[in-house]
Amino acid sequence: MLSVNAIDVSYGYAQILHSVCLEAKKGQFVFVVGRNGAGKTTLMKTICGLLKCNSGSIVFEGQEIQGMKTETLALKGIRFIAQDKKVFNWLTVRENLELASYASRVNLAEAIRMATGTYPRFKDLLDTKAGRLSGGQKEILLILRALIGSPKLLLIDEPTEGLASIVIDDVYKLLKRMKGDVSAIIVEQNLNLVSQLADCVYLMKEGKIVKQITDQEEISNAKGLEEYL
Ligand SMILES: Nc1ncnc2c1ncn2[C@@H]1O[C@H](COP(=O)(O)OP(=O)(O)OP(=O)(O)O)[C@@H](O)[C@H]1O
Ligand SMILES: [Mg+2]
Repeated sequence: MLSVNAIDVSYGYAQILHSVCLEAKKGQFVFVVGRNGAGKTTLMKTICGLLKCNSGSIVFEGQEIQGMKTETLALKGIRFIAQDKKVFNWLTVRENLELASYASRVNLAEAIRMATGTYPRFKDLLDTKAGRLSGGQKEILLILRALIGSPKLLLIDEPTEGLASIVIDDVYKLLKRMKGDVSAIIVEQNLNLVSQLADCVYLMKEGKIVKQITDQEEISNAKGLEEYL
């Protein structure tokens, strides 16, 4: 579905990604792990068209997408959920969903049905200002928003960063529920969650992929994964 082939990416003169390769197959949850500053966000931003590559290619469903605009890629089904958990604070949950349904040309009632069906707690929060949601609920709102219009590939940057453990569980349950219906590349530092959801794990260090793990037994051992970090 997606293959990233030997991409180099720089900010100005500073090269951050060095010949990065990554593969995501249809329906898979691919995780990218690595320490702070390893280049994980840079990789996600490059895939979704916010940053350009100096060299290499990015192929999505057989088509070269390197250099395409983020809006074009969103309509092709690639959605990026940024690390900062920014919702439209001054708008209600319903209005946040409405903006996404408008952007993806989906009927609002249908979008709300999907969102509240996937996360029933939002039924009572539709008229609440999104700024009043907890960090976990904001992340869930962002994921639900990205799901409107049946995307093909979600790029989720650190969905559980800064969340209390009880809400991490809500995010985990939502991701588990989505698994199989949509493909995702997820940056995540919580190796417990990685070990339970990943089909494949890429380890990033100093802008390079230093290891790819596909063996399910190895993935399911969170302690073992920790040793690579
Ligand atoms: N806009 C920018 N301009 C210049 N350098 C940047 C910019 N954004 C990030 N960097 C640098 O690029 C490197 C990789 O950053 P990136 O945000 O991709 O790392 P990360 O793996 O996502 O880290 P974290 O776990 O902290 O989110 C870092 O050295 C960072 O300082
Ligand atoms: Mg980051």
